[in-house]
Amino acid sequence: MKNITCIEDLRQIHKRRVPKAFFDYADRGSYAEETLRANRSDMERIKFRQRILVDVASRSLNTTILGEPAALPLILAPIGLTGMQHSDGEIHACRAAHAAGIPYTLSTMSICSIEDVASSVDKPFWFQLYVMKDRGFVKALIERAIAAKCSALVLTVDLQVIGQRHADIKNGMTVPPQWTLSKFIDFASKPSWVSGVLRGKRRTFGNLVDAMKGSNVNELSVWIASQFDQSLNWKDVEWIRSIWPGKLIIKGILDVADAKEAVKTGAQAMVVSNHGGRQLDGAPSSISVLPEIVQEVGGQTEILFDGGIRSGQDVMRALALGAKSCMIGRAYVHGLGAGGQDGVATAIDVISKELSTTMGLCGVNRIEDIDRRVLTDHLQTNAVSSPRN
Ligand code: GLV
Repeated sequence: MKNITCIEDLRQIHKRRVPKAFFDYADRGSYAEETLRANRSDMERIKFRQRILVDVASRSLNTTILGEPAALPLILAPIGLTGMQHSDGEIHACRAAHAAGIPYTLSTMSICSIEDVASSVDKPFWFQLYVMKDRGFVKALIERAIAAKCSALVLTVDLQVIGQRHADIKNGMTVPPQWTLSKFIDFASKPSWVSGVLRGKRRTFGNLVDAMKGSNVNELSVWIASQFDQSLNWKDVEWIRSIWPGKLIIKGILDVADAKEAVKTGAQAMVVSNHGGRQLDGAPSSISVLPEIVQEVGGQTEILFDGGIRSGQDVMRALALGAKSCMIGRAYVHGLGAGGQDGVATAIDVISKELSTTMGLCGVNRIEDIDRRVLTDHLQTNAVSSPRN
């Protein structure tokens, strides 16, 4: 991982090394990708206040996430199919997160199973849950997460209905991959991926093999549409609460009214998220709704943030607007596709250094001192609501 200066460098290598169907699955968004683009463009409009001649020699990124010490305010988000970007991708990503001192979240839609990851790492990780129609299976999944000593359950609530991703359809994205002439040509130019993923032992959804038995549906969106429970509602969160004894995080909050409901469930945290622009196209950027959600419920629960984070500068922006920590998805998957565990470690390191430098140039030494005062008065955006405190 030499000469990597930013996440975009990792993205370019990821694009060269991994078949188009899987690169696009991670990189692209739903429908016209308006929300995907808004996550970035609204972020970039937020400007910092440069401060000078402040002693910033003792900067520290140390913080706590859900009461646990963390080396920086960053979490690896749950990402489906991570093991298709690199063989045993979930295990590599989890190891890199733990080595960097931050939490890792394993997706329900992972390739390595909960047990695979638990037996390959030596610290607890978070588990992300999708709720399916077969509640017996959902209960069993939660029990597997308890048995694996997962330290938090991330309940994703914004994907019961799946937003169409045009690229997945055009690319014929299936799990496991199906051979077509165009795939054959694509795979032939990605030998390291073929020898890793295609020759590896894990090529399907590790947590779901039992639930998928007898189904020959391998198009993700078709399978999700047939299995995910569209009747999911707030009462089901109570049911999950009654089975899961640990910390609960509700992911996919974009509206103040929903944020207030989420607080009522007693969840320890929520993630302000539009699923990385992969779901409701036309939804506002995550960063634009963060301030109003923080203002309403920030005192009652821990607010995590995701959507458009590609740098330490972006982490600083989200923290300044009230997030306690940020999740990254694409930013680390680009690292994984580019170089496995080293690539993920590089992605975290890049963001960590950018955050430290940005803090220094804004005259801030500690994470808890980051607030609206690090931003310019004229936020230069209509995107970010609510005035400066
Ligand atoms: C699943 O979480 C996806 O966004 O594809």
